[in-house]
Amino acid sequence: MCGIVGYIGQPSLLDQHSSLDVLMEGLKRLEYRGYDSAGIAVVADGAVEHRKKAGKLANLTAELESSPVPVASVGIGHTRWATHGGPTDLNAHPHLTDGDQLSVIHNGIIENFAELKKELLADGVAFRSETDTEVAAALLGHIYRHEGEQDLTKSMQLVSQRLEGAFTLLAVHADHPDRVVASRKNSPLVVGLGEGENFLGSDVSGFIDFTRRAVELEQDQVVTITADSVEITDFFGSPAQGKEFTVDWDASAAEKGGFASFMEKEIHDQPAAVADTLLGRSDVDGNLILDELRIDEDELKSIRKIIVLACGTSSYAGMVAKYAIERWCRIPVEVELSHEFRYRDPIIDANTLIVSISQSGETMDTLMAVRYAKEQGARTVSICNTNGSTIPRESDAVLYTHAGPEIAVASTKAFLAQITAAYLLGLYLAQLTKKLYREEIKDILSDLADIPAKVQQILDNADSIKELARSMSEASSVLFLGRNVGYPVALEGALKLKELAYIHAEGFAAGELKHGPIALIDEGQPVFVVVPSPMDRHSLHAKVVSNIQEVRARGAKTIVVAEAGDETVRDYAERVFYVPETQPMLMPLLTTVPLQIFACELATAKGYDVDQPRNLAKSVTVE
Ligand code: F6R
Repeated sequence: MCGIVGYIGQPSLLDQHSSLDVLMEGLKRLEYRGYDSAGIAVVADGAVEHRKKAGKLANLTAELESSPVPVASVGIGHTRWATHGGPTDLNAHPHLTDGDQLSVIHNGIIENFAELKKELLADGVAFRSETDTEVAAALLGHIYRHEGEQDLTKSMQLVSQRLEGAFTLLAVHADHPDRVVASRKNSPLVVGLGEGENFLGSDVSGFIDFTRRAVELEQDQVVTITADSVEITDFFGSPAQGKEFTVDWDASAAEKGGFASFMEKEIHDQPAAVADTLLGRSDVDGNLILDELRIDEDELKSIRKIIVLACGTSSYAGMVAKYAIERWCRIPVEVELSHEFRYRDPIIDANTLIVSISQSGETMDTLMAVRYAKEQGARTVSICNTNGSTIPRESDAVLYTHAGPEIAVASTKAFLAQITAAYLLGLYLAQLTKKLYREEIKDILSDLADIPAKVQQILDNADSIKELARSMSEASSVLFLGRNVGYPVALEGALKLKELAYIHAEGFAAGELKHGPIALIDEGQPVFVVVPSPMDRHSLHAKVVSNIQEVRARGAKTIVVAEAGDETVRDYAERVFYVPETQPMLMPLLTTVPLQIFACELATAKGYDVDQPRNLAKSVTVE
């Protein structure tokens, strides 16, 4: 998830603003989408001039002060959230090609970049960076000189037909200082309409300081903007029409996509976070392709024990990983809080695989635990959302989650992306060790591919959970019960409520109820119950339904999250929230969502700042 902005204006507007002014304003507003690096390119005097710098936008501003670019009326700008290639100056966008006359920026992931790169290398194309973007840029340059007949729009259409995955591409060329050309597939792009000037942005915040008139594009479209025109086509050149609308958000709402908080936005980003984490990691035959996992296959096959290390929400993703990996691979998995791990003389050897899970990649407790495990001879894999951060850098291998930057302090979309990555790791190990048949892996992958649409369905039908949350703003204690993979979901539901709404909340394994927690139940005590699928192979459904009855008989107000079609729970629940069906192991990707919405809405009703809850920090970099 990167931020993209493009601009072209009449030269007569230069006394109001130059392309650089517009790009830098836009990038400031889009920096929430990624802050690993930033860069711009402008076209002036028949040449492309670019500047790019790793780190926050402030680094680019400093670079532009020491090395200014000529005043120009056209340009593109980018702020990066790294996926392929670390957060370095070289990997920063724009990428230049065609004798440095063509400049390209990109948001998304090009799935087939490896095979395209091979083709281009064979054609003698040289590469400077490790990014998939440079491959797209080089291909665009190549096509421009050959079948694209030096027509930038036509070349963009042709390159878009060849790229697989998700992308927004913007390009400017020294030979065409009158236009910016862009393309979009499964990745955001909006056009801004001005008087004698036009804009492009990942979202409207990219140009909201200059115009409020915007045009919505469809997927798989190419758009060419000049100072006075906007032309839209599909990837094959057939003309298309965009839908014009007026932006009525203020600038800060625009950064949040119109949501009241980053947290709400990030909860709504979850279909994309899951889809992007799955993207390009398996083929149609059900083969997992985890090229990043650079540990020798024989070494992975010799793993006898896995220890998952993480803190907080990430540790709950680790608990889901345990259920999945043990079931699919028959390898024992322990899940341990990083800060407990190294102070108990854990038993580790060369046949132990450490899987650390961290959104930030900087959590000191997890970093220390990973270092300790390495010293003891273990192999280490990091599941991480932040490219180039310390934990993945110090691990033997990394599997990045592609949730994009998480701005709200409490984790939501990173959690779903971590669970998704953990499933992929489990399936990959099952493939290597042949513990699952190809058809079984294919089935699970196909159900995973359906998850984003199902999460969207939950988000689209969230009114009743929000209404319940608002009605419970006076609650002083809420309990959460779950079993099997529903247990970590219950823990996460309780943690979200504690963090956001400052309400006492506890999550329990439902089977533990009779061993103590049931003493907490009295008249009116709210209890959320995450009910396993009726298809669960251990028949846990009936047991959890009995738990609901037990707490209800003692006066609890029972709120149930169950699978669509599960009518048995209705009789025992005050409220039921249904999530779409999926296989029991994948349920956490769905059952978590209503609990996040509940906590966010309740905290908002209490007037709390859900993005920055009191006493918390986004990355905990001290022990
Ligand atoms: C809870 C939350 C924290 C983090 C924990 C680990 O909403 O965000 O519990 O999950 O601090 O952080 P990372 O994943 O960055 O290591």
